[in-house]
Amino acid sequence: MNIGLNPRRIFLLTGAGISAESGLSTFRDKDGLWEKYRIEDVASIEGYERDPVRVLEFYNLRRGKLADVEPNAAHYALARLQQEWQARGGDVTLVTQNIDDLHERAGATRVIHMHGELAKQRCHECGDVALAEGDLLLELGCGACGRLGTLRPHVVWFGEMPLEMDRIGESLLAADLFVSIGTSGAVYPAAGFVDEARRNGVATLELNLEPSENAALFSDARYGKASVVTPAWVEELLNGAA
Ligand code: OAD
Repeated sequence: MNIGLNPRRIFLLTGAGISAESGLSTFRDKDGLWEKYRIEDVASIEGYERDPVRVLEFYNLRRGKLADVEPNAAHYALARLQQEWQARGGDVTLVTQNIDDLHERAGATRVIHMHGELAKQRCHECGDVALAEGDLLLELGCGACGRLGTLRPHVVWFGEMPLEMDRIGESLLAADLFVSIGTSGAVYPAAGFVDEARRNGVATLELNLEPSENAALFSDARYGKASVVTPAWVEELLNGAA
């Protein structure tokens, strides 16, 4: 891959595919979460208003599952890239659509969770965000405002604005290389980042099991399991070969 000058600022976007080999379901693959659940039931404000208990249970199950899984080689490779690139004076922005904490558990820092975090809860009345200490239940009260039945998972639902978009926009504009890993390119605004990077004249690389919906927009691609292609690419980049 010819990325011209050694990129100083790398922008990484990850999706569910990077956590698949850790044992977390993706959304749109065969047996993915959206084959078993309807988005409008468990990932929309209307679904929550209709049946909050069902929505809380969906996320409680997913939060519980986090305790059974571990980061895989792809998460570790990106954490290593972040550390070593920064030690060389470069910068790595890591934006994930994932609500799991596997990047952090692999040692990554300053991870931007644009779709929120399973480990956190939010009060839909006062907006307070706090670590969820166990299952979220309707009868619990908000630690900040004391209201009952107002806690929801700190995740972005369809129709809601993803988090930290200003910070993401600034990093995208400053990037010298854009890399997308394990995402289908089906959900905006994240699916539009590659086009934005391209319009800024930045090299773009896709690492995925198979061509994503946006595959034609990338200047380069490597297909295979995230746990294989990601560490191989990081190794090459750190050795100056990618
Ligand atoms: P998807 O389920 O849409 O796509 C997962 C991608 O990962 C697919 O392109 C797979 O081919 C690829 N994949 C699967 N296994 C892989 C592996 N072992 N190695 C590499 N790639 C693999 O998941 P996302 O693109 O993350 O949003 O979905 C984006 C958003 O849609 C999610 O954040 C979620 C969902 O609805 C919200 O809930 C707001």
